[in-house]
Amino acid sequence: MRLIAVAVVAWLATISAAATRQPTPPTSQAPDMRIDEQAVGLFVRMCNECHDTGRISSTRRTRTDWENQIGQMVEKGAKGTDKEIETLIGYLLRTFGKVYINNAQADEIVAVLTLSQKDADAIVAYRAANGKFVDFDALKKVPGIDMKKLETRQDAVGF
Ligand code: HEC
Repeated sequence: MRLIAVAVVAWLATISAAATRQPTPPTSQAPDMRIDEQAVGLFVRMCNECHDTGRISSTRRTRTDWENQIGQMVEKGAKGTDKEIETLIGYLLRTFGKVYINNAQADEIVAVLTLSQKDADAIVAYRAANGKFVDFDALKKVPGIDMKKLETRQDAVGF
């Protein structure tokens, strides 16, 4: 089922890329990544017109940074409805997002690291009780969170 979904996404991205004569955008290697086929299509349509997607994916960005960046792109001429932009920001956060774990709210932890709300709440509660996390290993002390998933998202975590 999952394989079929991935194949469909790849196929959709190929036809949209062919339509705009641009290469398919890079996707995250994270095994848990849920590729949103609609978002990939949007990404190709909205973001590949003026510069290649490698330029976009080279830097991980926080939610605020992505929102500001997309705002600037819209000013330069990128076109999309509010709903499409929201979908795109969700995709960019999951794929090329960054979260500063010592400051982030739970919803941003969910959006970037794709952890459950419960795990994100546990991280925020642990931080409130015990102070800042000094490094990635310090997150292992938070009881009951999905460390296996978190480890696949390590490069998206900042301190
Ligand atoms: C109408 C043309 C246009 C579209 C469409 C567009 N951009 Fe841009 N983008 C630019 C320009 C112009 C620059 C900055 C100037 C430059 O190229 O040096 C830029 C720069 C960027 C940068 C900064 C790159 C860096 O090196 O710091 C990012 C990230 C980016 N765009 C992301 C996006 C995303 C995401 C989308 C889709 C929502 C998008 N762009 C759509 C024109 C566009």
